[in-house]
Amino acid sequence: MQYSRSDFPEEFLFGVATSSYQIEGHKFGGAGETHWDTFARTPGNVVRNEDGAVACDHYHRYAEDLDLVQAAGFDAYRFSTSWARVMPEGRGHVNQEGLDYYDRLTDAMLERGLKPCATLYHWELPSALADLGGWTNRDIASWFGDFTEVVMSRLGDRMHSVAPINEPWCVSWLSHFLGQHAPGKRDIRATARAMHHVLLAHGTAIQTMRGLGMSNLGCVFNCEWATPVDESKAAREAADLYDAYYNRFFLGGVFNKEYPENLMRGLGPHMPKGWQDDFDVIGEKLDWCGINYYTRSVIAPEQGAWPNLTTVEGPLAKTQMDWEIYPQGLTDFILRTWKEYSREVPIYITENGMANADSVVGGEVIDSERTSYLNQHLAAVKAAIDQGAPVKGYFAWSLLDNYEWSLGYEKRFGLVHVDFETQVRTPKDSYNRLKVALAR
Ligand code: GCO
Repeated sequence: MQYSRSDFPEEFLFGVATSSYQIEGHKFGGAGETHWDTFARTPGNVVRNEDGAVACDHYHRYAEDLDLVQAAGFDAYRFSTSWARVMPEGRGHVNQEGLDYYDRLTDAMLERGLKPCATLYHWELPSALADLGGWTNRDIASWFGDFTEVVMSRLGDRMHSVAPINEPWCVSWLSHFLGQHAPGKRDIRATARAMHHVLLAHGTAIQTMRGLGMSNLGCVFNCEWATPVDESKAAREAADLYDAYYNRFFLGGVFNKEYPENLMRGLGPHMPKGWQDDFDVIGEKLDWCGINYYTRSVIAPEQGAWPNLTTVEGPLAKTQMDWEIYPQGLTDFILRTWKEYSREVPIYITENGMANADSVVGGEVIDSERTSYLNQHLAAVKAAIDQGAPVKGYFAWSLLDNYEWSLGYEKRFGLVHVDFETQVRTPKDSYNRLKVALAR
């Protein structure tokens, strides 16, 4: 690595992130069915119809995995709690086995000197709630509040930080407009409702946790930079609209209690009644702002239905996901978020990393592409800090190769290689280099 701990401010946190359904093995421990289980079982949705039933078997191997986090010298571990593991039907009955598991996991982090950073929802909605309309049903805000209360009454005393929902854009737009994630809808009315309700649920969970006396609460946004394909007015407007529904809707709702005007011209008619009255809940004061950053998109105008735009292939080097490597976007996002949205609130980069076609050769995984990606993005974080932005930490995505949603187990994002046949873990070269960089 080009950087080490000493290149960053004194209290800067280095962490690594994972999520429940992607690593735990959902079939273990009495978890209920989720919309990802059935989405994966529907032909054409997921590469080889793979699901999270076993994943990395982290449910049983968490101690070994947390040893790896500790040995690399990370300060913090970002994990998520599965709603259906804790409440198999989404409401009512609590699966004690599930709660006990997160309790053990938390203690195992603390025993290793790792700060537990929880995300309450990272996408595996209990099927029983999906049957009731899931994110399109306004009642989800109170169901989510109840789930938050159950989990945090048990774990809240030991959490370093908590975010209610991972990536509101993915929960709503990607899943209800593009249909690429569960529940696989392609419907503008469902999208508008999901976008608003996901923020209402976020705010409700924040209020619930404040009620439990908790602090250090935030939100995790995924941000993707939108570059117009050319300098034409039409291209600039298209990129601006993409930016509005990808990024500014969520940041604007939470920090400024408003939604972007250019977006509401198209989405407004599909919004749930009375949405304007919910901003006091949505905009509950936060203690930090999380940014997940991977790439940018090049946007061109297109004839047809709203939003009249399309993504075109850009010229930059790409990862295994075909995502362009564009570190400048991270600096730009931090600066814009700081100045226009989060202001004095600390910013954390809660996810950043790349997928690479890694394989074990002679007991080693040489992933120099990943080391270079991490270097370039740490440089981008440093550039923002040098301009005064209050960035307080950086979490790499991800600890382990894992279930990459509709792309199954094919795309490898881990610092640690996982052989999904044998569950053998092999730390990659990037892991070893980060370990040197993080040594105290
Ligand atoms: C996300 C999610 C992760 C993904 C990762 C790579 O950011 O989309 O938090 O679950 O695995 O981002 O796509």
